Amino acid sequence: VLVIRHRMSCSGKWARARAIVKELEDKCGTPIGKLRQVADAMDVEMHAGLASEGGSKLKMLISYVDNLPTGDEKGLFYALDLGGTNFRVLRVQLGGKEEGVVNQEFEEVSIPPHLMTGSSDALFDFIAEALAKFVESEPEGFHPPPGRQRELGFTFSFPVRQTSICSGNLIKWTKGFNIEDAVGGDVVGLLTKSMEKIGLDMRVSALVNDTIGTLAGGRFYNQDVIAAVILGTGTNAAYVERAHAIPKWPGLLPKSGEMVINMEWGNFRSSHLPLTEYDQVLDYESLNPGEQIFEKLISGMYLGEIVRRILLKMAEEADFFGESVPPKLKIPFILRTPDMSAMHHDASPDLKVVGSKLGDILEISNTSLTMRKIVVEVCDIVATRGARLSAAGILGILKKIGRDTVKAGEKQKSVIALDGGLFEHYTKFRTCMESTLKELLGEEEAESIVIEHSNDGSGIGAALLAASHSQYLGVDDF
Ligand code: GLC
Repeated sequence: VLVIRHRMSCSGKWARARAIVKELEDKCGTPIGKLRQVADAMDVEMHAGLASEGGSKLKMLISYVDNLPTGDEKGLFYALDLGGTNFRVLRVQLGGKEEGVVNQEFEEVSIPPHLMTGSSDALFDFIAEALAKFVESEPEGFHPPPGRQRELGFTFSFPVRQTSICSGNLIKWTKGFNIEDAVGGDVVGLLTKSMEKIGLDMRVSALVNDTIGTLAGGRFYNQDVIAAVILGTGTNAAYVERAHAIPKWPGLLPKSGEMVINMEWGNFRSSHLPLTEYDQVLDYESLNPGEQIFEKLISGMYLGEIVRRILLKMAEEADFFGESVPPKLKIPFILRTPDMSAMHHDASPDLKVVGSKLGDILEISNTSLTMRKIVVEVCDIVATRGARLSAAGILGILKKIGRDTVKAGEKQKSVIALDGGLFEHYTKFRTCMESTLKELLGEEEAESIVIEHSNDGSGIGAALLAASHSQYLGVDDF
């Protein structure tokens, strides 16, 4: 039998590869008009999500935080930050207005992947163990007096329907976690049970999303902070809403007249979002199909994976990496966003970093400079779309709270606290997001909106909220 393998001519191959990239560029386009539509749709969905439970894809969750830190918080508090591939335990010593954060120590522990999809007992037992070890390192002189419990701010960065500031039920997992028996359960109950099992006497005083922690941490340093956005493994935003603008609010309106809302904007979706065939298949094959569509276009968990899928198509349909498809390129999530970022930022004339990343991660060797340039172009298209969409999301929030336009003579600043690895480490993403926001706002308005990096804000924020919701409030510090 004579097997005739159809070989693409060299020029045919480049033409096909170029056509794929061109089509990608068109489909990922985010002209300013489209971004305005996305911002308007975000504003509309925010209203709908606040009007009634289940009224929108945006859950607009009530955080039970109606007072943000004032700076008066004092004492030694613990925080636990769970929400990505690592979790962190922190010990924060707060010294009130004069002294601020006196001391802060933390430890980071990576979560073994099997625990992300196992049982809730296994995950929470593992976390409680790590916390207990950390508590053992508490310095002499900082132990609580007999009979007094240690208190913890628990940052749990998944959608939770809170029942109070210190309790709430998990709505669903996101970001690659999938532990079925925890869905619907009270996450504070689960953690407390695991702590009790090993005799760790600690009380969860505040359960918060990372966006809420970041908002609280940001507010501690700057009273003009009105919203927080996370651009990391996942993406989300929280902001301060007027309590009477929350029709679904069940109880008495809080005295402060304000309530912090966890938007869960990762689940936003709109016909205006520029979705491609790659996004559709990524979503279909994900752990949570149909969910977190905005997050799947923007966040660190997915950007590298989108790029991998595009390169795979180019390999399959344009023989882009030679006659056979590199086997490693077929492995989902093998190309991580930090590696994509490293390729995207490669400033060497021969794109050495791109060459070595393709070689080390995908075992693709002997790439030409032209090929490497095309790979960078793909990274740029995918990152630019994500960055510009996140700017549109921020504009949506500013519109909702009427801070997108400056009133004559007003000097009021609106500060947005930003955190997350994507924002912190992916420079091109960050600068593109910031410049797009300026472009959307216009010169004058852009002056009043400040993006501030809230480094590690969510951990400190959780400790601050644990302090302001302490069971020993009014009792002397020890
Ligand atoms: C995901 C979670 C959300 C979190 C965000 C950033 O979107 O659902 O709760 O805030 O990731 O970590």
